[in-house]
Amino acid sequence: MRVGVLTGGGDCPGLNAVIRAVVRKGIGVHGFEFVGFRDGWRGPLEGDTMRLDVPAVRGILPRGGTILGSSRTNPIKVDGGVERIKDNLAGFGVDALIAIGGEDTLGVARRLSDEGLRVVGVPKTIDNDLNATDYTFGFDTAVNIATEAIDRLHTTAESHHRALIVEVMGRHAGWIALHAGMAGGANVILIPERPFDVDRVMEYVESRFKTRYAPIVVVAEGAHPKDGQMELQAGEPDAFGHVRLGGVGQRLADEIERRTGKEARCTVLGHIQRGGTPTAFDRVLATRFGVNAVDAVADGDFGKMVALRGTDIVRVGLGAATEELKLVPHARYEEAEVFFG
Ligand code: F6P
Repeated sequence: MRVGVLTGGGDCPGLNAVIRAVVRKGIGVHGFEFVGFRDGWRGPLEGDTMRLDVPAVRGILPRGGTILGSSRTNPIKVDGGVERIKDNLAGFGVDALIAIGGEDTLGVARRLSDEGLRVVGVPKTIDNDLNATDYTFGFDTAVNIATEAIDRLHTTAESHHRALIVEVMGRHAGWIALHAGMAGGANVILIPERPFDVDRVMEYVESRFKTRYAPIVVVAEGAHPKDGQMELQAGEPDAFGHVRLGGVGQRLADEIERRTGKEARCTVLGHIQRGGTPTAFDRVLATRFGVNAVDAVADGDFGKMVALRGTDIVRVGLGAATEELKLVPHARYEEAEVFFG
């Protein structure tokens, strides 16, 4: 059997570990051949491929990014895109496809599966917001990077009596902010699921200064204030309709300075959270996803995504994987709130 592999959406630590596991088990155990498609859905859409065999995946386990490249190309938005993908896969003699990605990439995978293509999905996102899996790989690495940054920022906050605002990724879901904020002892954590009250944030900040201890505010890029209490900027939408976010951290820093008279600085972690080597947890999870995805192909179990449930890897329908985002539940936020102020 000839199996195509692609990685779509934002890059994520652990992608290479999945690719390696798929290829090693696929060739070594199932006797498959592989075709790598470059840059997410752009690869099958434009027929852009690369060699994907055991030598091609040597040494990539600890490497960040993806050897296949990635993009946010949405073939559904391209005229005749689905037909072109079908024709190209047939042209390359590809019998099945493993798509590694987040809600957008897997949404396309689901659509193609409905159109009769033999697809298996692997969930990927540092945001950890895919509902059908307990964790996605990349999240643990992102949280560790953000936590280390918060630990380091404490030093300057204390020495200079400044409020330091750390803006982390998380467009719709505040998982990175919640975990890194809890691990790093944040003064307050602001997430997209809970529109925040600017006055309340100022109270937390002031109360921390009163104890002669400088505040660290952790804010997810998608967090927003209640009832337009603060203006935020939004950029152009991408092919999946997501606007480029950013700016809430700096706006908060300006507001804190204006209202409290204390110096406030913002650090935007941005792509640092997605870069570099995956943690051991992410390498193991990604490897397990990879070997289980290629087993699903061998079993002919298409239209599925591999997922983590407890400590087991299971298969769920691609529909279930992409229907709903996994948001931070109220109770989880309440646990963190105990430490605010
Ligand atoms: O989906 C992962 C993610 O890292 C989000 O947290 C973030 O909003 C987005 O990607 C940024 O994407 P890009 O690198 O394309 O700007």
